[in-house]
Amino acid sequence: MQVTVFSTEPYDRRFLTEAAAAGGHALRFLEPRLSAETAALAAGSEAVCAFVNDTLDAAVLEQLREGGVRLVALRCAGFNNVDLVEAARLGIAVGRVPAYSPHAVAEHALALLLALNRRIHRAHNRVREGNFALEGLLGFDLHGKTVGVVGTGQIGKVMVRILAQGLGCEVLAHDPFPDPDCVAMGARYVPVDELLAASSVVTLHCPLTPATRHMIDAAAMVGMRWGAVLINTSRGALIDTPAVIEALKTGQLGALGIDVYEEEAQLFFRDLSDRAIADDVFARLLTFPNVLITGHQGFFTAEALRAIAETTVANLDHFARTGVPLHAVAG
Ligand code: NAI
Repeated sequence: MQVTVFSTEPYDRRFLTEAAAAGGHALRFLEPRLSAETAALAAGSEAVCAFVNDTLDAAVLEQLREGGVRLVALRCAGFNNVDLVEAARLGIAVGRVPAYSPHAVAEHALALLLALNRRIHRAHNRVREGNFALEGLLGFDLHGKTVGVVGTGQIGKVMVRILAQGLGCEVLAHDPFPDPDCVAMGARYVPVDELLAASSVVTLHCPLTPATRHMIDAAAMVGMRWGAVLINTSRGALIDTPAVIEALKTGQLGALGIDVYEEEAQLFFRDLSDRAIADDVFARLLTFPNVLITGHQGFFTAEALRAIAETTVANLDHFARTGVPLHAVAG
């Protein structure tokens, strides 16, 4: 199949080219994001391959269909950026990569938590400047602390294992579908309010849906333990960022570690280091010493990229044979 691949970086090209080497697909790699302005570039392709910050709303999908596209192969797990109802109406199948390396994302969430708690980002800068003073670097033992895991799917479950069995934390969990494996590892499922009230650390691993958008808002902040640490490696819009900034200003929130940001499409995956940041909310976040931000790199391990590429090619192969991708997203 002819496939137009949007939002590609050198690492995407490398892993996708390797995975597709044996197959009969012609991959056309493009750097631009998929949007209403770029959708026409896919004309003549049967499939497009898209990533987290590509736009797949009704207008884009219609343009893609007019150009002959019948498959959207997402090279990510989340599909909140796709208008599935419109895709179904237009007869465009949507496939995704449901699992690649839950370890990659859970380990990144852990990295954010450990770095924030022990102030590694500040300590690194101090030592480089010959400042070996410890004042301001005080952390706490994670061992024995209560940590709340919101969403215990593939990534959340790995996080439960790391927290309970690796660090010796008391784990509270919240998920509409409790997982017996997590219970066996020591997690206790509780309502989300109880989780927020009792946890010294809260880590978010649920998808972005209308029900979870801004689940951490001003009201949720007030219900959280004073000085708690919040980690979000899922989707930026789970958090109402201005409300979180207010909580950071008062000290209600002790620290924030994020790999995702609600308006990240304007910023992430590009080198903007020679420009001013136009997003004042994001710029305010950068001013806090107790905020650690990474640019959506939770998935970015060699194992995960290889798995993403292989599953994406499997979706293309299956669609070419049967008319449906191997891992279809239901409309
Ligand atoms: P998953 O689908 O395996 O698990 C999600 C879990 O959240 C499910 O158990 C579901 O029942 C639960 N859930 C749904 N609504 C909930 C609610 N209101 N409260 C609590 N739990 C709820 O997904 P997976 O693979 O674990 O990924 C989780 C999220 O991580 C993805 O949706 C995606 O947004 C994000 N992600 C981020 C990456 C990164 O690079 N930072 C990479 C991959 C995924």
